Amino acid sequence: MYDDLRLLEATTVQQALERRLAEWSACAGIAVEVWALPKGDVPDLVAHDLYATVCEALANIERHSRARTVSIALTLGKNGLRLTVSDDGCGFPSGTTGRGLNAMETYFAGIGGSLTVSGVPGGGTTVSGVVPPRALAQRA
Ligand SMILES: Nc1ncnc2c1ncn2[C@@H]1O[C@H](COP(=O)(O)OP(=O)(O)OP(=O)(O)O)[C@@H](O)[C@H]1O
Ligand SMILES: [Mg+2]
Repeated sequence: MYDDLRLLEATTVQQALERRLAEWSACAGIAVEVWALPKGDVPDLVAHDLYATVCEALANIERHSRARTVSIALTLGKNGLRLTVSDDGCGFPSGTTGRGLNAMETYFAGIGGSLTVSGVPGGGTTVSGVVPPRALAQRA
């Protein structure tokens, strides 16, 4: 699922994400702006769930958003890990649920973090995930 082999073959999750984003952008015809990718090591289990979350977010953007641009930022620092994937597409009404939205929340909960997906009708969608430093240390 989700090109796991590519992730395992890649040296780091950062490299796997860069490749995936470039391929996805070319295929979907949607521009990707990468604002930040961390230099430091990400624990394996965290890397897997992070990668799977980004893939799920991209699948939704391609399928539902009609976005022109996606912005992604992943940072790793003393405040833990933060992921933001936002698009400038059609958004969606609050109260929307589904397997993919639930899967992204579950990935982050599984690594001791939390994630929300907020759509604004006509104003795009933002996926925001956080993993606190304590949870990262336990999995390092
Ligand atoms: N980036 C987005 N832009 C616009 N609408 C979105 C976006 N992400 C999710 N949605 C809306 O939220 C709904 C639920 O998303 P979710 O990923 O849970 O299910 P799905 O994509 O419809 O199906 P699945 O992921 O199971 O294949 C979508 O059907 C869509 O209406
Ligand atoms: Mg989906």
